[in-house]
Amino acid sequence: MAFNVTIRQSGKQFQVEADEPVLTAALRQGIGLPYGCKNGACGSCKGQLVNGSIEQRSHSSSALSNDEKTRGMALFCCATAQSDLEIDIREIAGVGDMQVKKLPCRVNALERVAHDVIVLKLQLPANERLQYLAGQYIEFILKDGTRRSYSMASAPHHEGPLELHIRHMPGGVFTDHVFGAMKERDILRFEGPLGTFFLREDADKPIVLLASGTGFAPIKAIIEHARFKNITRPMTLYWGGRRRGDLYLASLAEQWAREVPGFKFVPVLSEPDPADNWQGRTGFVHRAVIEDLPDLSGYQVYACGAPVMVEAAQRDFTAHHGLPANEFYADSFTSAADLANAV
Ligand code: FES
Repeated sequence: MAFNVTIRQSGKQFQVEADEPVLTAALRQGIGLPYGCKNGACGSCKGQLVNGSIEQRSHSSSALSNDEKTRGMALFCCATAQSDLEIDIREIAGVGDMQVKKLPCRVNALERVAHDVIVLKLQLPANERLQYLAGQYIEFILKDGTRRSYSMASAPHHEGPLELHIRHMPGGVFTDHVFGAMKERDILRFEGPLGTFFLREDADKPIVLLASGTGFAPIKAIIEHARFKNITRPMTLYWGGRRRGDLYLASLAEQWAREVPGFKFVPVLSEPDPADNWQGRTGFVHRAVIEDLPDLSGYQVYACGAPVMVEAAQRDFTAHHGLPANEFYADSFTSAADLANAV
């Protein structure tokens, strides 16, 4: 049995099957709703249930609190319909135009750029091309059906292989495989492009790009895309890591700072090793933004990396430093461990 869903603001309608998440149904029918993790961990797909009833499935309490639930808020990535619905949620132009495909790919190269980071390059079948927005991600589909998400670090105009940045999580099935047995010419399967983290090109505000660790990957794609499109908005990249080696492509960011007018790079280390001989900024990367830009009211911020960094940045920037809530765009790296807190 299918139900009808109406989006209050635009009046757009789509059908959802009885056991199908509302978000999945929307994307399947070309309607761009916001989302990130698709598993109840990040809160990106949160919206208001105006009319009708849903079953809200397992999710993290940090993504949707009990108080929000009693106020009729819902996470549509893990909500199914029990009647026709009317919902209120911001729509994302552009995402719905990208065709989501399941594709095989071949490992083209594995480049170790830090002791725990590999740049993985993937070749698509000769007759395939993946259209995506800079900042989006793909999901590998593993043999047991589980999935692992990675942002594309290459910009969409790039003609070569797709580039991903993989950090080794010891004990993690997929990354142990990448850092152990995976070799060139191996075949993988993925689905994509996914996600609503991409550069909003209809604005002219200066941009703050905020990354921790391999959160640099989609930020790299966004910067390379902006260069390709001759976008001249001022951009400052704050990239944080614990040690110098965590900023595994710092030389590329330094090169942008030399070559791209209006681009600045601020590397920030939270625990520099004495051997790093670090003369640069220290502390939490989002605090460095606040020190430099205490008034963020005229900016757009794009943040990607560890959930703790993304959440702290969103809270502090919007609550205390004037950033409009709708000018904070984020992709936080959620993992199986984050779902241990699921309710
Ligand atoms: S997309 Fe729904 S909680 Fe992340």
